[in-house]
Amino acid sequence: MQQSQNRISKLFNIQYPIIQAGMIWHSGWKLASAVSNCGGLGLIGAGSMYPDVLRENIQKCKQATNKPFGVNVPMLYPNLEEVIQIILEEGVKIVFTSAGSPKTYTETLQKEGLKVAHVVSSTKFAVKCEDAGVDAIVAEGFEAGGHNGRDETTTFCLIPNVKQHISKPLIAAGGIALGSQMKAAMILGADGVQIGSRFAATTEASAHENWKKKITELNEGDTLLTLKELAPVRMVKNKFFNELEGIYQTGRNTEALVASLGRARAKRGMFEGDMEDGELEIGQVSALIHDVLPVETVFSNLLKEFEEAKAPSF
Ligand SMILES: Cc1cc2nc3c(=O)[nH]c(=O)nc-3n(C[C@H](O)[C@H](O)[C@H](O)COP(=O)(O)O)c2cc1C
Repeated sequence: MQQSQNRISKLFNIQYPIIQAGMIWHSGWKLASAVSNCGGLGLIGAGSMYPDVLRENIQKCKQATNKPFGVNVPMLYPNLEEVIQIILEEGVKIVFTSAGSPKTYTETLQKEGLKVAHVVSSTKFAVKCEDAGVDAIVAEGFEAGGHNGRDETTTFCLIPNVKQHISKPLIAAGGIALGSQMKAAMILGADGVQIGSRFAATTEASAHENWKKKITELNEGDTLLTLKELAPVRMVKNKFFNELEGIYQTGRNTEALVASLGRARAKRGMFEGDMEDGELEIGQVSALIHDVLPVETVFSNLLKEFEEAKAPSF
């Protein structure tokens, strides 16, 4: 791909409109700076970091790259005010908010000169983002790993619909691990892509090695969306997933679901490497990920595949 000058690369002052998703337990300063150094936009995932850990990651990222990077702030975790304060104090220039209302922090952050993108899973919420004045909208399809929308709208259906209803720069997320998928998303109307699962299985991701290896072994059908009553999340069908299914079969007791979840399951699985009792968040596209690779290789593969992908004529 030529050095691009499209709306997303201009907005974030990056070389390629490729954003590495903020991911709990994966995207610390090592992953974010590696992606930014390749010409994409690396995001530190604040969701799994105590405020002091976030500050340290931002400071290390600033040392590891002189390129733009950002912070992802899922609004469902505690210490939100403190997290925003640290972002401002540390001079971060780009924030991606998710799992909450785009109105909450957009204006506050923009007044301080930051660019703000917000993640949604439906056209209805994309319109709310536009009304809230965000700089860019991430539309995430149901294929995606991690927390997800209740409507089960796939990226293929979501992007063209969002495109018809908004005018802000649009970033497609969910089910993108190859350059051909990136090109398809851009043909559908996206200005750029946000990639999670593919960057989870990289050398620089901070997740446990057991988990990275497991990602490369997953097949089609090995993940499902569950916990729709609480916060829908796509995860691997392991022992923990089956435990949740068992609770559903006994009558969907929300309290039992909360109790089962309340044992730092995501950390246990993805960070500590417990492949049975931990929560393992990953997208459907994991079936296309066969190796743990350095970010540089993932990046050059994406660019090469993007160039090679041609729409067949008929
Ligand atoms: C392990 C994992 C953790 C994630 N954590 C977050 C998060 O903390 N905040 C967020 O906004 N999205 C999170 N997501 C969703 C990603 O930001 C991204 O939108 C999604 O992974 C894109 O789909 P893909 O996995 O098919 O590439 C997570 C995804 C994964 C796979």
